[in-house]
Amino acid sequence: MTAAFSTFPAPASDGMLLACLACGATHEPALVYRCPSCGGILEVHRPLAPSGRWRRQDFVADAVTLGEGDTPLREVSPGLVSPAFAGRLFVKDETRNPSGSFKDRLVAAAMSRALALGAGGIVCASSGNAGAAAACYAARTGVPAIICCPEATPHGKLAQIRAYGATLERVAGHYGHSFRRAQDIAAERGYANLTTTFLNPFGVDALRLVGQEIAEALDGTPDWVAIPTSSGPLVKGVHQGFLDRGRALPRLVAAQAEGVDAKQIARRLVEETLTDA
Ligand SMILES: Cc1ncc(COP(=O)(O)O)c(C=O)c1O
Ligand SMILES: [Zn+2]
Repeated sequence: MTAAFSTFPAPASDGMLLACLACGATHEPALVYRCPSCGGILEVHRPLAPSGRWRRQDFVADAVTLGEGDTPLREVSPGLVSPAFAGRLFVKDETRNPSGSFKDRLVAAAMSRALALGAGGIVCASSGNAGAAAACYAARTGVPAIICCPEATPHGKLAQIRAYGATLERVAGHYGHSFRRAQDIAAERGYANLTTTFLNPFGVDALRLVGQEIAEALDGTPDWVAIPTSSGPLVKGVHQGFLDRGRALPRLVAAQAEGVDAKQIARRLVEETLTDA
């Protein structure tokens, strides 16, 4: 595939490597989604900036950002909290992101890296928010985008994806089928895969900023952080962000919707790790 968009500048993160969580092997940054040696999940490792702090520009390039992140941490007024709750409650308002969810952080970073590595288009499997984010940033950068959504995706999200001008593919079956379809499209077309389910290491890495921002906004470490969770990259990001800022870790609660079958997600990740090696 021609590197149609290779003139996009890379984010300022020289010295970055992809490290495998399973075998520890390191690899140069590339559009790869599993460890080339063993098929394990890849994580971004990079030297800390000379300032000793991570900055947004370590994760995204100016050409790709839409001003995502740095969202407000608002205190919920005591009248709205159960009288049985003695503490203070804060909400991180991720709906302030350009397409309306924290997925914008992930997509901005993954898209920045994809374009710097010469991807000619992007594909994303999503049950809504990630697809909207990918379509939004594709519109910003002018790259072709294909979004694969399961049948049960809410109509509002489908309308948002279409409104941004992306090609929408509705895939029969559950999310796993859309996930597989996006992998096939990425392989066939040489498109970058921006799917957010522990697939794109550059995107998952950017979620560290969520933890960093919460740590910065509060004087100490909160007792608990409850995190809306599907497959878990956001939980990882919050955890790592507190470590990045040298803070003690809060107790993390991964709050999943009742219908989510965590065991099935774990099984799928293992299966995909083994079959994609
Ligand atoms: C609004 C919202 N919250 C939380 C999640 C869960 O994200 P993760 O896959 O990082 O667990 C999603 C993922 O689709 C989402 O759209
Ligand atoms: Zn490996």
